[in-house]
Amino acid sequence: MSIEIVSTAPIAGQKPGTSGLRKKTPVFMGPHYLENFVQAIFDVVGARGKTFVLGGDGRYFNDRAAQVILRMAAANGAARVIVGQGAILSTPAASHLIRLHGTDGGLILSASHNPGGPAEDFGLKFNMPNGGPAPEPVTEAIFGRTATLREYRILAAQDVDLTAIGRVAFGEMTVDVVDPVADYAALMEQLFDFPAIRAMFAAGFRMRFDAMCAVTGPYAREILETRLGAAPGTVINATPLPDFGGLHPDPNPVWAKALMDGMFGPDAPDFGAASDGDGDRNMVVGRGIYVAPSDSLAVLAANATLAPGYRAGLKGVARSMPTSAAVDRVAEALGIGCHEVPTGWKFFGNLLDAGKVTLCGEESFGTGSDHVREKDGLWAVLMWLNILAVRKESVADILTSHWSSFGRNYYSRHDFEAVDAAKADAMVTALRGILPDLAGQHLDDLTILSAGEFAYTDPVDGSVSQRQGVRILFTDGSRIVLRLSGTGTEGATLRLYVERYEADPNRLDLDPQLALAPVIQAAHSLARIKQYTGRSIPDVIT
Ligand code: G1P
Ligand code: ZN
Repeated sequence: MSIEIVSTAPIAGQKPGTSGLRKKTPVFMGPHYLENFVQAIFDVVGARGKTFVLGGDGRYFNDRAAQVILRMAAANGAARVIVGQGAILSTPAASHLIRLHGTDGGLILSASHNPGGPAEDFGLKFNMPNGGPAPEPVTEAIFGRTATLREYRILAAQDVDLTAIGRVAFGEMTVDVVDPVADYAALMEQLFDFPAIRAMFAAGFRMRFDAMCAVTGPYAREILETRLGAAPGTVINATPLPDFGGLHPDPNPVWAKALMDGMFGPDAPDFGAASDGDGDRNMVVGRGIYVAPSDSLAVLAANATLAPGYRAGLKGVARSMPTSAAVDRVAEALGIGCHEVPTGWKFFGNLLDAGKVTLCGEESFGTGSDHVREKDGLWAVLMWLNILAVRKESVADILTSHWSSFGRNYYSRHDFEAVDAAKADAMVTALRGILPDLAGQHLDDLTILSAGEFAYTDPVDGSVSQRQGVRILFTDGSRIVLRLSGTGTEGATLRLYVERYEADPNRLDLDPQLALAPVIQAAHSLARIKQYTGRSIPDVIT
């Protein structure tokens, strides 16, 4: 097998966002496009003599892209690639493999919760030897390299057979094809009380897990049905499909509506859950009750010691800035640290590596712990199952007793999608302009305490991230956050996050949208969303 050196023209715009490079699939399939980005990764992180993990969420082009990366890894001198059978690995499973084998990082093929298919989205991200997404200096260096490199290296060879588990030689490189599920399932078995959960299922506990035709299907089947004894058929949409069966594999009440309907309908099971395209997100829902992700994080933190892996207690917790402060109250009660970081899982990495936090989460259906360096959908579901099995109470009872102990942080996120990017920028610029004058202003019953843009200094490496979202705080603890998405692939996505704290025991079961109405109204009037974007009704409310 010979190494080909292919000359290319510079390619513009390969700028990785919050979670790697995401583009429409035809863009990724364009001439030299994938190859250019992969060569930039290898040029920046170095490939010679190194070992990488490789796998993806199985979306359209996953298999072809994996073969290209294998050929390029071999041509760039990599010693070994550990690849999931069929080029499949969920994002948390990839993170675990990177750590388990002490590798030099990994390449993950996914556009997460974005739809997949020939006309939908594709993505590629590089994870570091700690198992977490590359930090900004690395992604910036990769971006810089994408625009300047003039050639890439690729092995002239046939495809590697990824259908059978085992070791194959590929040029000078070794390819280890591994079971995508086994090591991950073993890790879960260490962290959670499998006998207690198994006993709960054996006693008739019913669950529905919607894998949304994405990567978690095989993981959930093996763990829930085979190892924990959940009834066959507990996992629905369990077969990963290249187009996710036309579903939008984003586990929230809008995109996982079928699951929500089932959980609120007659004969609802005890517990429902869903995960996204690459398996790092989760939605949790009880019979007749939805668990908001910010509340889920708080409940997991408050009950963590019920799980064997967390029996020693939590070192600390962390949440992204737009996530509600529900977990802050738990941290205060536990007497542990609580960190507020910008949006994006990579900001948790240093805190986890430094042993400052054990659990972390985002309002966007992401929850995780120090067991890997990605958020982990199935992990969160198993943590809930562990808590349910030990407390022997319903999800509704656990949630309501949590609110009566800690008060309730009513919370919602409103997304305005595919907004004209220039208009969205103009709106944010105008809002920025008025921030210094907002403190003390009244909007109906609300009084503004402070307003500004969130900046973050990493307590471990001292790096500073500016302009991480506009934050308007009110004197009663209510809060508005506005930011533009870093993961959208079409125009701009404006995210509006609203929060209101309620301690009155008689006002803990309001409809969140009603409880938040004054804050929502204040946000519209301050940011003048309609005037700038032409939108007053969000596309997605979570
Ligand atoms: C979104 C979420 C964010 C999450 C990211 C990757 O990013 O809001 O919490 O970390 O996806 O899953 P955004 O589009 O808001 O930049
Ligand atoms: Zn994801």
